[in-house]
Amino acid sequence: MLVTIEGGQPVHVALERALRAAVRDGRLRPGDPVPPSRALARDLGLSRWVVTQAYGGLVAEGVLDARTGAGTRVAATSWPTLAPARAADPPVQLRPQFDLGPGVPDLRHLPRAAWVAAVRTAVASATPGDLAAPDPRGVPALRRALAERLAVTRAVLVDADTVVVTHGAADGMTRLARSLKAAGHDAVLVEDPSWPRLRDVAAAAGLQPVPVPVDADGLDVDALVAAAVRTGARAALVTPSHQFPVGAALVPARREALVRWARSVDGVIVEDDYDAEFRYDRRPVAALRALAPDRVALLGSLSKTLAAGFGVGWLVPPDDVPAARAGLDIDASAPPSLHQLACAALLSGGGYDRHLRSARGRYRRRRAALLVALERHLPGLPVTGLAAGLHVVLGLPPGVDEHHVARLAARRDVRVVPAGRYRLDDAASAPALVVGYGNLVDARLDEAVARLAAAVSEAAR
Ligand SMILES: Cc1ncc(COP(=O)(O)O)c(C=O)c1O
Repeated sequence: MLVTIEGGQPVHVALERALRAAVRDGRLRPGDPVPPSRALARDLGLSRWVVTQAYGGLVAEGVLDARTGAGTRVAATSWPTLAPARAADPPVQLRPQFDLGPGVPDLRHLPRAAWVAAVRTAVASATPGDLAAPDPRGVPALRRALAERLAVTRAVLVDADTVVVTHGAADGMTRLARSLKAAGHDAVLVEDPSWPRLRDVAAAAGLQPVPVPVDADGLDVDALVAAAVRTGARAALVTPSHQFPVGAALVPARREALVRWARSVDGVIVEDDYDAEFRYDRRPVAALRALAPDRVALLGSLSKTLAAGFGVGWLVPPDDVPAARAGLDIDASAPPSLHQLACAALLSGGGYDRHLRSARGRYRRRRAALLVALERHLPGLPVTGLAAGLHVVLGLPPGVDEHHVARLAARRDVRVVPAGRYRLDDAASAPALVVGYGNLVDARLDEAVARLAAAVSEAAR
């Protein structure tokens, strides 16, 4: 028997689980056909509906591939965790079945064909100059493509020579922080809450993170000015387009106040533009860098628009802060030139824009479906955050421990992140979860939220 079904859960879920295990441990290999639904239903004594539901879920997840005329097969490109296990392999760490973690984009919809074409173009057209002595600031073709994109999508007008290609936002932050440290900075004002990795790399470079609160209008700039006076910090790291994880956009009056502050103290603002392409209710607001090119360094990345595995980002240093430019090349190594050339081809050939257009539609619909599911299973709990990005914030009932809910959810195979993970000052914060929808299959959304609701009600008991 190819699979056996365990009791204690809906039968189609149990069948999905059993099939996933069969793929994972190599009983079913990439490309293998799975039995016709009618035959498997008969063999297992199940209704055909159960089998088609299970196959449907696995197709949506990318484990199976259903092509008209070719029958249903195990996907040729399956997840790395699905490689057949050899006897000596350590146990496979499975991704949770219901991944509501924030920040992971939809990995099933990568523009693979466009990427293959872009790699082909890069390999076919790389010049000896591209390959011989790579510029540590990036290959000219990608810097040009990024400068053009920044002008059109972020109202950021820069010379291609000014753009530095990085390995991602964290790498850009590392380079900036080292530059600032070398120029005498000792601290950086950071949003609280915020993504720990950027503050951590700043701290590793010698800049002490100083927390500044955030509210529904974004960073509290009055509090920032007070913290700057108290500590002498003259650098700030912010997410103005879509504060992570609160989900607010920095309002215009605060943008102006922030820039005034930076100009008045010969300071620098680092803008993490991580989510700017994903706004679903309106056109994205222009980057803060557009308002103050003299003071603002911009960090961007392909990690959310494509995947972290691309390992490519960009950095635009501020025009009038020589300190932020000085050390950008220290230990810097750009991503491999051929990879950068392929990224350039993807951007300038239109493949990236086409991907973003369809990704926006998909995320907009998935976000709407998530809100419906939250209202159905967890009615009355506050859901906050703009119609943007890849996550929302779910407030929990007072007194419920967010970490406990996350643990109970994990037991139900659901990943959610307690909001406290992102806070520096965790005292007296209302309990909340950061709920991502980037990498969740639409067909599983309702079930994921139902399981989360069960975890919340168990924690509230
Ligand atoms: C707030 C924020 N900024 C930036 C990034 C992207 O970072 P990187 O380009 O280093 O992968 C992420 C990724 O999770 C993020 O959450």
